[in-house]
Amino acid sequence: MTIRLGDEAPNFTAETTEGKIDFHQWLGDSWGVLFSHPKDYTPVCTTELGRVANLKQEFDKRKVKVLAISVDSVSDHKGWIKDINETQSCTVNYPIIADPDKKVAQLYDMIHPNALDNLTVRSVFIIGPDKKVKLTLTYPASTGRNFDELLRVIDSLQLTANYQVATPVDWKHGEDCVVVPAIKTEDIPAKFPKGHKVIKPYLRTTPQPNL
Ligand code: BEZ
Repeated sequence: MTIRLGDEAPNFTAETTEGKIDFHQWLGDSWGVLFSHPKDYTPVCTTELGRVANLKQEFDKRKVKVLAISVDSVSDHKGWIKDINETQSCTVNYPIIADPDKKVAQLYDMIHPNALDNLTVRSVFIIGPDKKVKLTLTYPASTGRNFDELLRVIDSLQLTANYQVATPVDWKHGEDCVVVPAIKTEDIPAKFPKGHKVIKPYLRTTPQPNL
């Protein structure tokens, strides 16, 4: 099944390292990051899952729950977590779905057989509190993801969900934003009292409004 931006994130129940979950219930009113990795006891995946554990406070600060998945079993995950904790100086502090029958992997189209036979590739789904998909990303097995980039995107998504701005190239929290085209230039001062610049009629910037 192809999942597109704006679609409802399909619900499922699954066994995880922290017990059985109903995905939507588990999310509650939080944001969510569902990310797949190809296989337990593999090097790149070990570094990725360790990095996510070490960034957990950053996800918590943004009210984002993280959930990993691969086609391995709960007992494999639990054994591997000891290695992740030991080698990545972390404590894995989020659930990992065990999906040996590939039910969730197929639901989310995480298996790309022409790239990686029978294993999940590195998919990412960011899900909003409305359960809608806000971002999809697919990396090959050979390339570890950049989870700082995911936090940056979450900052942008959470900002643009509440203000009529968009974030320009390489934007980071604290930097100027662009005013969405739907707002007339003459209406900007009332909406963005911190000021604005008109660089072109279609390119207007304003300081980040929620700071
Ligand atoms: C890894 O995590 O290192 C990996 C997993 C599957 C295929 C290639 C690399």
